Formats: sequence, structure tokens, C-alpha cells
Amino acid sequence: MKIIEIEGGRQLSGTIRISGAKNATVALIPAAILTDEEATICNVPEITDTDVLCDILKLLNVKVNRSTESIVINTKEMQNTIIGEDYSKKLRASYYFMGALLGKYKKAEMYFPGGCSIGARPIDLHLKGFEALGATITTDNDKYIVEAKELKGANIYLDFASVGATINIMLAAVKAKGKTIIDNAAKEPEIVNVATFLNNMGAKIQGAGTSTIKIEGVEHLHKCFHEVIPDRIEAGTYIIIGALCGKPLKIDNVIPEHVDALISKLEELGINLEVGADYVTVLGREEVLNPITVKTAVYPGLATDLQQPLTVLLTQAKGKSKVTETIFENRFMHVPYLNALGSNITVKNQTATIIGPTKLKGAEVGATDLRAGAAMVVAGLLAEGKTKITNAEHILRGYEQIVEKLTAVGAKIRIIEI
Ligand code: EPZ
Repeated sequence: MKIIEIEGGRQLSGTIRISGAKNATVALIPAAILTDEEATICNVPEITDTDVLCDILKLLNVKVNRSTESIVINTKEMQNTIIGEDYSKKLRASYYFMGALLGKYKKAEMYFPGGCSIGARPIDLHLKGFEALGATITTDNDKYIVEAKELKGANIYLDFASVGATINIMLAAVKAKGKTIIDNAAKEPEIVNVATFLNNMGAKIQGAGTSTIKIEGVEHLHKCFHEVIPDRIEAGTYIIIGALCGKPLKIDNVIPEHVDALISKLEELGINLEVGADYVTVLGREEVLNPITVKTAVYPGLATDLQQPLTVLLTQAKGKSKVTETIFENRFMHVPYLNALGSNITVKNQTATIIGPTKLKGAEVGATDLRAGAAMVVAGLLAEGKTKITNAEHILRGYEQIVEKLTAVGAKIRIIEI
């Protein structure tokens, strides 16, 4: 097990550079198998989710050449092999191989994906989309066989604007015959990044980033070069850290538009920010922070992935703040640990009520999932004394060089392996 240990209560100043987006990378790597040639992806974060996806590529006999921040993926000798549970369960994004293999070979055989336990996380919308394109699905416990004689474009309406279903259907549809229209598609920037990648390979996708995506099927996808967008959730996490401990803290390599909802909530709280073309600097904060009401929503609303780190900041506002989680059923697992550090938070149904300000004091806590773990890092940096975060592997799945980046701006933080 990995443990992150933090000596909190220090002021942080300097610059933190944001890495490539995890949730774009984890879709781009499976998407790359759709080419019959070679795809080069740069600005790839070195996180454990990237490692697992590269292992799946190798299982499929795909040549993977990884150097710092870039991956060259060559599919010339690829084989459509079953993806076993030991691979699929390591992360949620393994499910993108379902759409990509279906699109490429008209057959995918793999097990149900893993990922953070933040709710039921069914994949019914993905499967309905595949069926609409002409696939049949056979399940055997957790194993899925998705296959089609031919994939034909279709009109698909998503009951919920799911990120995963939108991308997976796009992957299956790029080589289908005719036109696919995805209505009520998710609009997250990662979807635009994946669509751009596929278009760079010769796909014909229009409308990514809006709620209607149109895909005209093509027969062949060629060689391409692509860059991963900066990680808006990593950026948001460090902006929140800056709001609590920054003196000042510059978060560089950000697309500020991607964190608009967070920025406006921080301004409402009383955080002073300078927003540049590709950076956000936290200059400081008002002495008394205003309590606020927050509701997570699909993009461009406030990201559910930032809800947990943001809750930590709200423990410092004067009065009663409320946070409502609308995307996942189980995303308040950080609350008992935060309360162990000294906060006053109660959760009822899907709303957390936070009474502040409260002083936080270091203690031993755990990372129950990736963003709950990130929230513990935020809290540990603020809390006086030593905080130990167990199960820190969850955090390393999504934050590249978190210890190095925070150390460089003055934090006392280290990883211990036991
Ligand atoms: C992606 O998960 C991200 N993961 C999540 O980030 C992120 O929290 C989420 O989108 C929302 O923005 C990756 O990109 C790998 P959804 P995903 O499908 O695709 C329900 C992180 O911390 N739903 O948009 O799984 C679902 O249960 C992770 O980086 C169905 O009911 O999210 C949820 O309530 C965690 N049926 C809602 O939709 C389906 O078939 C949104 O899920 C699919 C989803």
C-alpha cells in the first residue's frame, strides 16, 4: 500500500504546470486502435491509468512506444483478443475498448470495467447505442460479447448525457456504414479532444462539444499526430489548493474556459484570481469567505470530479454552505474523513451541509477513490500537523507527479510504501 504523508499548514507559492487530461487520455489510447497505421499522442500524463491501458494494447499485440509524455501506437500486427477481468477491472476506461474493437473488428469480447466506486455506474446506455448500430450483446456474468455482421449508422438519443456512452458510441460509429446522430450527447472537453483525434485520422465527426454529434462513417482511418488537452480537474484541484494555501499560486497550462464554473464559484466565495490566456493565478482571499451553494452538473456545469476537493475549501467559509451531488450516488465518502480532521459536515440524501469555518488538524485518513483522495491531499495541506492518507494508489491513478509538483511550491509531502 502507498501512503501519502503531509505536514500541513504551510503557505505555497510558485507555479504548478498542469499535465495532459486523464479522462481524455484514457479514451484516446483505446481510440488509437481504430487506425490501421500509427497514431502518435503527446502530452500523455504518466499516471497508472495510462500504464494499464498500454498493457491492454500490448495484450492486443499492438506496438506501444512510450517516451516522456508521448506514445506511439502501431496497430499493424494487432489481434482481437479477449480482454480479461484482470485488465478490465483496473479502471473504468477499459470500456472504451468495447466501442473501439467493435468499430474496428465488428466484435469485442471483454469483462465489465472497474474504476472508482462512486455509484452503480451501469453501461446500459453504451450497450443500447451499440445495439442501435446493429450489434448484438451476449452477457455471461461479467463478460460481454458485442458483435455485428455490419454496423449501420443510426439515430441515438441518450437518456442521460453520459461522457462514457457518448465517446464509446462515437468509437463504434466512425467506421459504420452511413450516418449516426447522437442526441443529448455529453459536451465535456474530453469528448471534443477525442473527436478531434478521430477526425485527424480521417473520421467525419461534427458537433462534438454540442448536444448533437453527427458521424458520417468512413472505411479507413490513417496515421495521425495528436495532443492531449490540459487536465481541467487537475487544474481545478490545484486552484482550490491555491485558494486555501496559495501566496500566490500560479496554475499554468490551463484552458480557463474549462474551469469557468469553478472560477465563478470561487469568486462568489471571496477568492481573488487572475485569469490569463492559459493560466489562473490565485492571488489571495478575503479574510472572511462567504458560504455558497453548489450543485454538480454535466459540462459546462460544475464538475462532479471537483466536488470533493471543493468541499474542503467550503469548511473555511463563514456560515452554512451546501453541496448537492447530482451525477453519482456515492460521492461523499470523503466526508467522514474530513470530519475526522475537524470539519463540521452532515450529509443527507445527496446534499452535504458544511458549517464553517473550522480549524483542521492532521490525522490518519484514507483515499476511498481518486477525487476523495485528492480532497484528502487538499485537506492535509491545510490542516495543522501531520496527515497520513492510506490507499494513496487511488490518487496516483489521476494526478501526475503530485508529490513533486506540490513539493516544488513549498509543500512538505512524501509517499511511503508499506
Ligand atoms: C466520466 O465517467 C469520468 N471518467 C468521470 O471521472 C466523471 O466523473 C464522469 O465522466 C462525469 O463527468 C472517465 O472519463 C474515465 P458518465 P463516466 O457516463 O463516463 C449514469 C474521475 O474521477 N450512466 O457521464 O462513467 C452514471 O451511472 C472519474 O476522473 C448510466 O446510468 O460518467 C452516472 O450516474 C470518476 N448508464 C451518470 O450517468 C450508462 O450507460 C454519468 O456518468 C452510463 C452512465
